Amino acid sequence: MILRFKTLFSKFLLALLSAGLAAAVAKAQSTDEDAHLAIENPAELSKEEALRIYKSLQRRMDRGYAAAQLDLLMNYQAWPLFNDAPYISATHGQRYVNSYANRMAHNYGTLEEGEKLPMGSVLAKDSVTVTDEGNVHPGALFVMEKLPEGVSPETADWRYIMVMPDGSLFGDTMGARAGAVAYCHECHEAVADRDYTFFVPEEYVVGN
Ligand code: HEC
Repeated sequence: MILRFKTLFSKFLLALLSAGLAAAVAKAQSTDEDAHLAIENPAELSKEEALRIYKSLQRRMDRGYAAAQLDLLMNYQAWPLFNDAPYISATHGQRYVNSYANRMAHNYGTLEEGEKLPMGSVLAKDSVTVTDEGNVHPGALFVMEKLPEGVSPETADWRYIMVMPDGSLFGDTMGARAGAVAYCHECHEAVADRDYTFFVPEEYVVGN
């Protein structure tokens, strides 16, 4: 398992090189409120601290994202959660993130090479910003939805959405501002053999 994550990670580093340019462009166009802008001074939290902070914010976060009125996100916090505590994600703006998957995505945690998630699978990664000065606030919600076969060949039928903490839409590859989130798939392509999903860092996988 550890080895597998390392392989994924080196693949991801390779992809980072190619995605770097696109990400740089996206960043250049973003504003302070852009949750994808990496924060420079994230705090280092223990699992307990990260959990406590997340618990204090999660209802507010749910209400904020809900303003986007995306049916596919209804009650996402009640879905199976695959990490045992929020973990810092360098690729999602140095924020503390969680990895939820709906019931349709039943094989998200056990995907074998070449296997796919069923249509209707939704993966939701919410995020919290914690700076080393102790500032804490909700971050963006990163979403992947598996579409019916053939609907979006250029993204292997994955739809990518980024919802801001106030429910405004940063971008949706199948809707508004699709260009703003085109870089998502470019990076996720690094794990094409796991149906474009990276999963959770080994030390945060539930049950490990
Ligand atoms: C530079 C690479 C990179 C970019 C760009 C990127 N991601 Fe990710 N994504 C990752 C990695 C690595 C993980 C798993 C580890 C983590 O959370 O940091 C992940 C995990 C996810 C997950 C959980 C499903 C999974 O892969 O296991 C979702 C949902 C997600 N990303 C959505 C998005 C969306 C939406 C965007 C664009 C707004 C995006 N990502 C951009 C690298 C990237």
